[in-house]
Amino acid sequence: MSHPTQRRELTFKHNILNGRHGWLRLTPAYGVKVVENLIEDASNDDIIVDPFSGTGTTGLVAAERGYDCDLYELNPFLVWFAEAKTRAYTSLDIEAALDFADGLKSEDFVQPLEESWTPPMHNIDRWWSTRRLNVLAEVYKRMKNYESERSNEAIDLLRIAFCQTLIRWSNAAFNHQSMSFKQEKEQTLIEDEEKVVIDSFKQSCKRICEDAESPVSGRVRVFAHDSRQMDRAAGRDYTLLITSPPYPNRMSYIRELRPYMYWLGYLDNGRDSGEMDWKSIGGTWGIATSRLADWRPKGYLRKHDEILKTVKLISARSPLLANYIHKYFEDMYEHFRGLPSVLRDGATVNYVIGNSKFYDTIVPTESFYEAMMREHGIKHTETKVLRKRSSKKELLEYLVSGTFKK
Ligand SMILES: C[S@@+](CC[C@H](N)C(=O)[O-])C[C@H]1O[C@@H](n2cnc3c(N)ncnc32)[C@H](O)[C@@H]1O
Repeated sequence: MSHPTQRRELTFKHNILNGRHGWLRLTPAYGVKVVENLIEDASNDDIIVDPFSGTGTTGLVAAERGYDCDLYELNPFLVWFAEAKTRAYTSLDIEAALDFADGLKSEDFVQPLEESWTPPMHNIDRWWSTRRLNVLAEVYKRMKNYESERSNEAIDLLRIAFCQTLIRWSNAAFNHQSMSFKQEKEQTLIEDEEKVVIDSFKQSCKRICEDAESPVSGRVRVFAHDSRQMDRAAGRDYTLLITSPPYPNRMSYIRELRPYMYWLGYLDNGRDSGEMDWKSIGGTWGIATSRLADWRPKGYLRKHDEILKTVKLISARSPLLANYIHKYFEDMYEHFRGLPSVLRDGATVNYVIGNSKFYDTIVPTESFYEAMMREHGIKHTETKVLRKRSSKKELLEYLVSGTFKK
């Protein structure tokens, strides 16, 4: 067998230049190609579902090919974003967004600008220099004023261009699996910052509007939902499940999404971001970490000796990390337990998932998934290696699949 390689074409990095798929970067987003390969053999009457939809990659690939697809996601910002990314836009929406961008003249952004609202982010000056922040705040204010004049859809296109601009001109460096700040000397100092930021917003707007013209013929519905409770999901009778749940690797989605969430009003204090991370499967940021210390298992995994053995091994080094892993698999257990309520007999399920390693203990997520899936009516489970995730040869991404039988 050949050795797995990192295969960039299967990751979010490949999505950046791919029309709507490149609208917003989320590190754990999977590559469009993964979904395309899984949808290839679908038939016209398939109804697709993604219970951990993130930026809506599955929904967009499905709808572009004419399939109906339901997406479920816990994070309200991602629910909004996936909806905006997967809908069909009218030429009126697109014109209205372009009109707004055309109307921005960089001469009007000469400093000092009148003081405008800025998001209540901790240490905001680490994110943006004062000049950049003032320009962003002014664009944001004008965008808000435009809301009453134009369709919500047009404003969504502008919001996405705004998200691209605010991250492009921030000091955050995404060279890490989460993020860090550029050192001061690395921050570019540009003479004509106002013009550069405005031009960049206009460019984003133009590109996004071009992408928005692309047809999406399938119907996508996006639900704000906790996928540990699939029995309470809005839809039923799905025939093809394609998803990538959180990995047990202590990655925080909120951490990376914070700047967008603060600007667009989905967050207004640090405590709430910790609360959201605690509700997300695999979240461990802020308050979530201290809550983990007091967390006690519900006992769902009593039939899963292998998982419990792994938890025990990790516990010898760190009881807190052992709780993290234990909770992660209990949460995923709850998800699998609800699947029979929403799948049609014969449905195919596909989970893209990574393993992890704590100290010298490998957590074989893929085989733990197979075991939990089999307990809940999914037969003929199998695992394929998709790619190597990093320079560490033991960290891999897998596709775990199976067929649901009533
Ligand atoms: C690996 S990401 C999915 C990325 C997605 N495939 C994409 O291409 O953008 C996992 C997602 O699961 C969401 N999530 C975490 N816990 C959840 C829960 N209990 N219910 C629903 N979604 C959840 C996270 O917010 C995150 O967006």
